Amino acid sequence: MAVQASTPTLDARAIRADFPIFEQLIHGKPLAFLDSAASSQKPHQMMEAMTDFYSTSYANVHRGVYVLAERATAALENAREKVRALMNAPDVREIIFVRNATEAINLVAYSWGMSNLGPGDLVVVSELEHHSNFVPWQYIAGRTGADFAAIPIDGCGELALDSLDELARTRRVKVVACGLVSNSLGTINPVERLGAWAHMISSVRLDKTTWGELPHKFEAGTAPMAEAVGFGAAIDYLNAVGFEAIEAHEHELAAYALGRLAEVPGITLYGPPAERRAGIVSFNIEGIHPHDVAQVLDMDGVAIRAGHHCCQPLMAKLGVAATNRASFYLYTIPDEIDRLVEGLRKAHKLLT
Ligand SMILES: Cc1ncc(COP(=O)(O)O)c(C=O)c1O
Repeated sequence: MAVQASTPTLDARAIRADFPIFEQLIHGKPLAFLDSAASSQKPHQMMEAMTDFYSTSYANVHRGVYVLAERATAALENAREKVRALMNAPDVREIIFVRNATEAINLVAYSWGMSNLGPGDLVVVSELEHHSNFVPWQYIAGRTGADFAAIPIDGCGELALDSLDELARTRRVKVVACGLVSNSLGTINPVERLGAWAHMISSVRLDKTTWGELPHKFEAGTAPMAEAVGFGAAIDYLNAVGFEAIEAHEHELAAYALGRLAEVPGITLYGPPAERRAGIVSFNIEGIHPHDVAQVLDMDGVAIRAGHHCCQPLMAKLGVAATNRASFYLYTIPDEIDRLVEGLRKAHKLLT
């Protein structure tokens, strides 16, 4: 693994060697994977940790008193501690393993929201949210009689924070549910400011009687053990590369991409300037449906996302049904962005 832990830089070309997915050709071309915002590729270190767990330590956790059960339990709990440290959570019991973000948000919305929300309360999301952080809160607010509001965005796709005080003027803000980064536009949200605002407004504490039962009461049945072990290995991998280096790399790629994409005829770019966004760019090319653009790019081995990105309130605000989205990660190299731009020029020539 190529690592420069002391400075926020990384060598994406060297890092790619850790990711077996890049060893294949797609339609005879090297894979340019520009859809990491939907799901990122996995390094062999993570896959080996999972294979090793299945090969040497697999048994159901927390139930057996034999060696394998103890090993499996230790591996799961070790992974839980790694996640706690990454999240900077005060207590390891706050870490619950579920299948995905959608399930996690639904779990919180139903388990906490149904017994803690009611008339006079306000649930706040933002217009940037993914459906998974919009729909459960909208639904639970409706079920409990609480009000529901979305922080609007400005013309750059950034949150209009001057609307906050008005939102809270007549109601108790009980929930502020907002992602750190918009998966559609790459906007980095000011979550620290939002957190400070929400805690001036109200304070919510967990019922102390629930502590003794956590985390297991929310992990009923066989736990996703190997997945948790793989997650732990992925955290080790990312810590070794360095989160600051990854962030800097994404910013650099976003700036490069915004510059290069501006050269494409008929293009509309959405979202804030590069310095205030993560490695995500959304765009449309006049007269061409995003699905057609994505198909032309696929023929050249370039994988991007086309659609509403599960953010239909945001798409409505942008006045479009869908966008093209290219997203970058630690293994993305500028050549892939050059190939994206070439592919877009080709799509423009072929389809307009
Ligand atoms: C911002 C955001 N939130 C939530 C999700 C849903 O994630 P999951 O598939 O883990 O439920 C996604 C998926 O891409 C996302 O981009």
